Amino acid sequence: MQLLRFDRAAPSKVQRNGFRCGEASLDRWLATQARQSMESRAAVTYLLLDPEEVAEDDRPSIVGYYCLSPGEVRRADAPASLADRALDPVPAVGMGRFAIDERYQGRGWAAELWREALLAAVAAGKVIGARVMLVDAISADARAFYERYGFVRSPIHPMQVLYDLRVVEVSAGLDR
Ligand SMILES: CC(C)(COP(=O)(O)OP(=O)(O)OC[C@H]1O[C@@H](n2cnc3c(N)ncnc32)[C@H](O)[C@@H]1OP(=O)(O)O)[C@@H](O)C(=O)NCCC(=O)NCCS
Repeated sequence: MQLLRFDRAAPSKVQRNGFRCGEASLDRWLATQARQSMESRAAVTYLLLDPEEVAEDDRPSIVGYYCLSPGEVRRADAPASLADRALDPVPAVGMGRFAIDERYQGRGWAAELWREALLAAVAAGKVIGARVMLVDAISADARAFYERYGFVRSPIHPMQVLYDLRVVEVSAGLDR
């Protein structure tokens, strides 16, 4: 498997249109909006590709993707453990989307891609000074996925979940 930034992978329309994760809005976003959001610098998308499984146009199939963007959360909207001694608003790295193609689901690829997404968020946070990772979950099922990895619900916005980037850093051994 190969992880590439969207612009480096330059996925063809066939590659993008072939992606199906079970959540139509996430398929559509990859097919029609990821490039534009990259070009306008609103968000950066990363693709996990399978070089062994090629699409109709002989380019690698897209296994999954995630997308990061700068963000912030009001202190009042953050769980107390994250708001403690933080700036207001709390600087954040946002993860807009995270998905695995149905053909690859249930085989551990989400866990692999998830680790990469967290490491990228920690790295971005170190460069620009973010404290939390912030996700607006698209469904209760998606929120359950994030909570499984330690994300905590915002006390104000029930579909918003957050994670302390310093905790990720320590648990990944990146603080040394
Ligand atoms: C959610 C999704 C990314 C999981 O992909 P996957 O390939 O099935 O996940 P994996 O096989 O790597 O499993 C990782 C772990 O997460 C668990 N998991 C998977 N989906 C879950 C969910 N919705 N809620 C809670 N846990 C979930 C798995 O049981 C597995 O646990 P285990 O390691 O103890 O066995 C995938 O189903 C998907 O893309 N769904 C549609 C889009 C979506 O909901 N994205 C998430 C938020 S935007």
